[in-house]
Amino acid sequence: PTQQTVAVVKPNALSEKENIVKKIEESGFKVSLSKEQQLTKEIAEQLYADHKDSEFFNELTDFMSSGPSLFMVLTREDAVMGWRALMGPTDPEEAKQSQPESLRALFGEDKLKNAVHGSSNVENAAKIIPVVFGEEAIATDNNED
Ligand code: CMP
Repeated sequence: PTQQTVAVVKPNALSEKENIVKKIEESGFKVSLSKEQQLTKEIAEQLYADHKDSEFFNELTDFMSSGPSLFMVLTREDAVMGWRALMGPTDPEEAKQSQPESLRALFGEDKLKNAVHGSSNVENAAKIIPVVFGEEAIATDNNED
């Protein structure tokens, strides 16, 4: 099915945003919405609500609120899985071994500064779109064909 997912270029990779967006478009995604923004710690905590019990939650949300990130809504057939495949494994070291062309292999530094983030499912994407892009983003998206 055609889906929407949220893609994030993390603060450590923002200088590579042109290269990353080029790869996204070459992979058949439509960038439906795009916004550069520095997250507050609070919104970073919302974005990573699923990880709130992990030992790196504080480090992760500190990093994600340390500088501007690029947020995008990507639309494509199987966008959630497709974007996760393009990102590659969470750990850039592993990505370099198993998927050297993936974004985390190319632009990631370590597990935390792994260049990009993506929604884990369509429900998470739908939840975070209005938080980052505002409530009006919902209506805008629904009007697209
Ligand atoms: P991301 O796709 O942003 O979703 C959750 C993030 O947690 C993940 O990518 C990593 O950046 C981060 N993460 C996962 N494991 C660790 C770890 N062991 N130490 C620090 N950060 C981690």
